[in-house]
Amino acid sequence: MRIVVTAGPTREPIDPVRFLSNRSSGKMGYAIAEAAAEAGHDVTLISGPVCIAPPQNVRVIQIVTSDELYERVREAALACDVLVMCAAVADYKPASFSPQKLQKRESPAALALTPTRDILASLPESRPCLVVGFAAETQNLEENAKKKLVAKNCDMIVANDVSRSDCGMESDENEVTVFLKTGEPQRIGRASKQIIARALLKIILEMREKRLTKKT
Ligand code: CTP
Repeated sequence: MRIVVTAGPTREPIDPVRFLSNRSSGKMGYAIAEAAAEAGHDVTLISGPVCIAPPQNVRVIQIVTSDELYERVREAALACDVLVMCAAVADYKPASFSPQKLQKRESPAALALTPTRDILASLPESRPCLVVGFAAETQNLEENAKKKLVAKNCDMIVANDVSRSDCGMESDENEVTVFLKTGEPQRIGRASKQIIARALLKIILEMREKRLTKKT
């Protein structure tokens, strides 16, 4: 099966030396790509800037900005069976990029921002692939994740609590709940991201299988 996984943060440049970004380490997305490759799938990993080595037997496409990620995902979504959007896409970017380094005494203290494109929400409704979103939450996890599942038209959303320092963002461990449009949520208890990745892959492949059987 052709599986595309996005991972890591995006960087939205302010000037040649500064950018807006977030704390995503890429570990969860890399673990999913690794689990999929180990299971013999054809895996493409679209990765933002991270400090971890890519898994073996995975095609890696490096991106920096949300606009680059948008382009790569649009291309990939048309030619894969499963798309897993684990990347932590910046929600805003600077309204303009300064080609010269901004001098602190000459620049305004406030930075004008513009929203980035919502990559998941912009995918065509009719598409060949199963789309898995992630929801990073610090409160009302279930409510917010379910809203994103519908608003972003995902087939499945994986919610994780990113308020904890011992689990989730940047950590080697995670604990997630998978929400589907119909059916009971499935919780995967605290474990290493490698174990979570294998459990997620199993749920994703089961769902794809069910879908295919329904269509035939
Ligand atoms: N996502 C996306 N494009 C964006 C922002 C997020 O495709 N511009 C995707 C992420 O890859 C993830 C899902 O949307 O799969 C949810 O991301 P999350 O950060 O939890 O939510 P946001 O849409 O950013 O909303 P908020 O920041 O209000 O929680």
